[in-house]
Amino acid sequence: MRRNIVAGNWKMNKSFAEADDLINSIAETLKEYDTTDVDVIVCPPYPYLELVSDVSEDADFFVGAQNVAKFDNGAYTGEISSSMLKGMGVDYCIVGHSERRKYFNETNKDVSEKIDKLLKEDITPIMCVGESLEEREGGNHFEVIRNQVQEGLFHLSADDMQRCIIAYEPVWAIGTGKTATKEQAQEIHAFIRKLIEEKYSDDVAQEVSILYGGSCNPQNARELFSMEDVDGGLIGGASLKAKDFIQIACSF
Ligand code: 13P
Repeated sequence: MRRNIVAGNWKMNKSFAEADDLINSIAETLKEYDTTDVDVIVCPPYPYLELVSDVSEDADFFVGAQNVAKFDNGAYTGEISSSMLKGMGVDYCIVGHSERRKYFNETNKDVSEKIDKLLKEDITPIMCVGESLEEREGGNHFEVIRNQVQEGLFHLSADDMQRCIIAYEPVWAIGTGKTATKEQAQEIHAFIRKLIEEKYSDDVAQEVSILYGGSCNPQNARELFSMEDVDGGLIGGASLKAKDFIQIACSF
């Protein structure tokens, strides 16, 4: 059965000293709350993975990365492979975030290749999908999301599909303070789950956690997470404050 998950995406934020403070504060704050019903994941920038991984050893959260190379090891200057991530204690990795699609021209094909590399190392991919404002206003959002899900994931076997997490992050809601309504989120999450059911089976669809991302905060998380097909959140800005982040994680 699918798990409740709250993942913090720190993006390209925090100095090393600030990251040290934040992760220790998250570890401390977690002790005050009951998070048995939710898996908490922290995704810092690459240079802080070792720090976050070390703190995670005595704390109740998992470590995630924000990106991975689509190549194995070799002459790919500046890239980080899935086997390197595994060696750092990484259990989850975000792929296909809209910021990577936009600024680094990542395609659905790139995303699918990265997912393969992650699964080979037994790292759980958190694949992001989501439409732009223009696509939603043009009524193309279902089509865009169908393509992202099909081209990113549907080459996988049923077993591998069940090992993935999907995050629905409408681009117009990211960092804008404009959250999708709970109905908008539920509509897309149910659509994604239906796609998985049609391609694989209801059993497989029920195993895949689908997270919502985009201006999620302690005030709106409970309402969003109460929807049937919303299994948690991928949190940007609010994951940079320990208390806000953990409050969101306790919103089920
Ligand atoms: P915000 O929560 O800052 O809108 O960011 C969401 C996001 O992009 C998480 O990956």
